Amino acid sequence: MTILTLSKLTKRYGGTTVLDEVSLDIAAGERVALLGHNGAGKSTLMKLVLGLIHADGGRIEVAGHAPGSAVARSLTAYLAENAAFHPAITGREQLCYYLRLRGQPVKQADELLEKVGLADAATRRIGTYSKGMRQRVGLAQALIGNPRLMVLDEPTSGLDPVSRREFYALLDELAAKGTAVLLSSHALSELEARTDRMVILAKGKQVAQGTLADLRSDAALPLTVTIFPKAEQAPQVAEAFPEAQIFEDRVTFTCAPDEKLAVLERIVALRGHIADYDLHAATLDDLYSHISRRVA
Ligand SMILES: Nc1ncnc2c1ncn2[C@@H]1O[C@H](COP(=O)(O)OP(=O)(O)OP(=O)(O)O)[C@@H](O)[C@H]1O
Ligand SMILES: [Mg+2]
Repeated sequence: MTILTLSKLTKRYGGTTVLDEVSLDIAAGERVALLGHNGAGKSTLMKLVLGLIHADGGRIEVAGHAPGSAVARSLTAYLAENAAFHPAITGREQLCYYLRLRGQPVKQADELLEKVGLADAATRRIGTYSKGMRQRVGLAQALIGNPRLMVLDEPTSGLDPVSRREFYALLDELAAKGTAVLLSSHALSELEARTDRMVILAKGKQVAQGTLADLRSDAALPLTVTIFPKAEQAPQVAEAFPEAQIFEDRVTFTCAPDEKLAVLERIVALRGHIADYDLHAATLDDLYSHISRRVA
């Protein structure tokens, strides 16, 4: 079931088009990452989905409802980029306030704080929290109710590596229950394994979208092959791979994705001379740089 539909979404500020006919569907349980340079239009797209600002063209539907309508708002959770809180109130007070706003029992506050690892700081003023702790208050707020759609603008900014993993584990749980997730991030390596699909924006235009496998197959970037010869066997290995660069302990070269099996066969044929090998496919970082260069 489709939870979010964007069709030819366009937004202009003055004479500048900051979103240009962007189309995107997100199904229940799908986690979609929005990528793009600073100013690409990610936060603008999210604010349009929330109904906080209005589009100049195109259509948005949240489970069939208009963005910003009472039903759409009740179905949607949002974490704004750089969410700010009043420093004088405690984490628990802030959560109770949000729970009341969303018509939910305030007794959920402690459970939510526990979920984002803030149980021990619940009664401390937010002014004394670290950056990552403030970010977690925002995350706890976004978990209120049973949102069908979560819109998270740079949710992992400020989180340490362990907290990032915990955050994505939380998202996995929500997605498994059918929540659709749209999130933005500049931390590409963490998105590879933890989202189902990526959408890349550049200057308001959608320049690529798909799974990591789709992006890889579109870009057809070469793989890097590294072979570690057994002691004193480097010359034999180098002879078999004349295209390779030879270092003291390894032999390395690149190959096109469709040559992968043929290369593997050549490696296997040399197995008596080889201690180990490594095949490195393009990462999301590589793909993102490639797509950005192509667009530029
Ligand atoms: N209220 C506004 N008035 C004029 N221009 C705006 C306004 N809000 C956003 N913009 C412009 O729209 C473009 C997209 O901004 P947006 O905040 O969506 O980028 P972003 O992709 O979220 O970037 P970042 O990664 O830095 O958060 C930018 O050029 C920005 O200057
Ligand atoms: Mg932004």
